[in-house]
Amino acid sequence: MNPSSGSQQLTLLYSRTQIRRRVTELAKTIAADGPGRGLVVVGVLNGAVVFLADLLRALRQDVHLGFVRVSSYGASAESSGAPVIQIPNDLPLVGEDVLIVEDILDTGLSMTLLCEAIQARSPASVRICVLIDKRQRRLYRVKADYVGFELLSDFVVGYGMDYAERYRSLPEIFTLDIEDPECESDDDPNPD
Ligand code: IMP
Ligand code: MG
Repeated sequence: MNPSSGSQQLTLLYSRTQIRRRVTELAKTIAADGPGRGLVVVGVLNGAVVFLADLLRALRQDVHLGFVRVSSYGASAESSGAPVIQIPNDLPLVGEDVLIVEDILDTGLSMTLLCEAIQARSPASVRICVLIDKRQRRLYRVKADYVGFELLSDFVVGYGMDYAERYRSLPEIFTLDIEDPECESDDDPNPD
């Protein structure tokens, strides 16, 4: 099946095998860094869910699992303003070792705000794991401790990541080119 449709063109970037290998490596590194128990894993909805599910199974250790929401993008490839951070009140953070799991670190705004909100609850430590790091697009000073893949500026979908809520269920990671003369003056959905 060709998952491309209409004026949106998908190109395979990482296969299932490449993703599985990298996620396994990440889990080993995270486990080696400890702590062996009591880790609070904070997944960022919705994009990190598929990555987190695989990472957790590769991690093979007891964790406390919780989710936060960072909303900003809506149905657009570009941010639409300041993200709103939602952290459930029953998520244990005070004095805990926290691992944030996110799909993509782009400008860094979402992660900066999320880290501030988590730090405000006085955790013992906070580490950041992202599937994809677009380091060259960074506008805010935030650094991931664990990175699956580094990318330049491509817009990516699949493996949980979306464009306007599409493509999340694809098991591979694709780059997305949008050819829409009404919305875009060129083919790059995520221009620098
Ligand atoms: P930031 O706040 O600019 O770092 O944006 C990070 C968020 O933007 C990610 O959590 C994603 O939800 C979204 N995002 C950034 N780049 C992409 C992409 O290439 N595909 C899908 N979502 C993206
Ligand atoms: Mg996100």
